[in-house]
Amino acid sequence: MYFNKEMETLTRPEIEKLQLERLQKTVSHCMNSAFYRRRFEEVGIKPEDIKTLDDLKKIPFTTKADLRSTYPFGMASVPLEKCVRLHSSSGTTGNPTVVLHTQKDLDQWAEAVARCLYMVGLRKTDVFQNTSGYGMFTGGLGFQYGAERLGMLTVPAAAGNSRRQIKFIKDFGTTGLHAIPSYLGRLYEVMKEEGVDPKRDTKLRTLIIGAEPHSEEQRRRIEEMYGAKAYNSFGMSEMCGPGVAFECPEQNGMHIWEDYCIVEIIDPETLEPAKEGEVGELVLTTINREAMPLLRYRTRDLTRILPGECPCGRHHLRLDRMKGRSDDMIILKGVNIFPIQVENILMNFKELGTNYLITLETDDSNYNDEMLVEVELSNPLTDDGRLQSLTREITRQLKDELLITPRVKLAQKGSLPQSEGKAVRVKDLRKTATF
Ligand code: COA
Ligand code: AMP
Ligand code: ZN
Repeated sequence: MYFNKEMETLTRPEIEKLQLERLQKTVSHCMNSAFYRRRFEEVGIKPEDIKTLDDLKKIPFTTKADLRSTYPFGMASVPLEKCVRLHSSSGTTGNPTVVLHTQKDLDQWAEAVARCLYMVGLRKTDVFQNTSGYGMFTGGLGFQYGAERLGMLTVPAAAGNSRRQIKFIKDFGTTGLHAIPSYLGRLYEVMKEEGVDPKRDTKLRTLIIGAEPHSEEQRRRIEEMYGAKAYNSFGMSEMCGPGVAFECPEQNGMHIWEDYCIVEIIDPETLEPAKEGEVGELVLTTINREAMPLLRYRTRDLTRILPGECPCGRHHLRLDRMKGRSDDMIILKGVNIFPIQVENILMNFKELGTNYLITLETDDSNYNDEMLVEVELSNPLTDDGRLQSLTREITRQLKDELLITPRVKLAQKGSLPQSEGKAVRVKDLRKTATF
């Protein structure tokens, strides 16, 4: 029932004792990072000031902007030669975020993921297929090493090529599959085209779904389509990747491994603690990381802590499913995108004006999610050849920046609705959120 019984069944007082010990160690260790040394000096605190868990509040928040401004290695708390891997976010126009790992960090990350997979019933005898992008996407290597640690036969299929995914599922007898929820809609469509009924023709039993917000109804639809149980998986690259919080067989909230991190929920406006049980922004402090510990990291994800005990016997807190974000980040096909990335690319083209519109939509014919970028020209342009080559070049640059392929449409000046502010520049018409 437990992958690491000792850690998974800690009582609340034991969790808190361990957290304080690890927090104090982490804070001292952070003084090896130029960034945190300066931060502590600025607010006039010392590691010795952290005497209780409540003292955590004395430490300033860490933000994505901090990670960007210290790009690439300014947050490191160990010499670079101790690091064995980094993961970086998309983006070439602004500074991406970089997360560094030592071998110990990677081992602990693999264990966190193995715990999650074991918790939902996956065992050595299972065949686990992962449809995440590999490389910089942490869902790839994160699930890979976790599944291997558990001892399953792994199928590192990576993203894309649904027909091949289906062939693998059938031929290798895949029983456990990790995919983002919207992609499972697309995959099911391709199965139907291929005459494959997942309930009849596959051994799928356990689906791991995450990386984007989804509803309870969407989970139930997925479970019905595939005839398998689907478990919500939450993670983010700054916290290593997957393995941060995960549903247990009760499917009622995601246990967050509190021997790995300390959880706070704050009001994103006032930055004060949210009222007990209320939705707010998730703030996480890592307490077992070597290369790049993060203190009070503002995730920008909105959720709440579920009240009460979980019948599964784990006392690690449970997070409600994510309710959205407190910033303007979009998640499309499991890829994080900030509208400013689109804007920065468009503004490089002198042929383009400043008015643009991003529409997220689902292609009715194939259930694929897409991004349509419409942008006004700065001056009238009617030469078809020139319009086509310009569209191609904008598409190429956007794909390099965003890691997904948008559809680009050039519009004559004055033809798009005039908008002010970023919110109205993005329209989300995706059906996959409710399929
Ligand atoms: N996971 C797996 N496959 C996906 C996918 C996803 N999230 N989103 C789309 N695909 C599939 C598409 O269905 C298509 O295959 P098919 O036509 O055989 O069905 C193929 O990938 C290409 O899709 P397309 O929309 O044309 O490509 P794109 O250039 O816009 O996007 C991807 C490229 C899919 C490679 C990119 O979106 C990606 O890597 N997504 C996965 C990100 C990820 O792993 N996130 C998890 C982080 S924990
Ligand atoms: P990445 O750093 O690319 O792994 O993306 C992390 C972000 O994806 C998180 O901060 C969330 O916004 C989102 N995310 C990850 N898992 C989930 C989930 N289970 N539900 C909702 N959003 C998620
Ligand atoms: Zn539980």
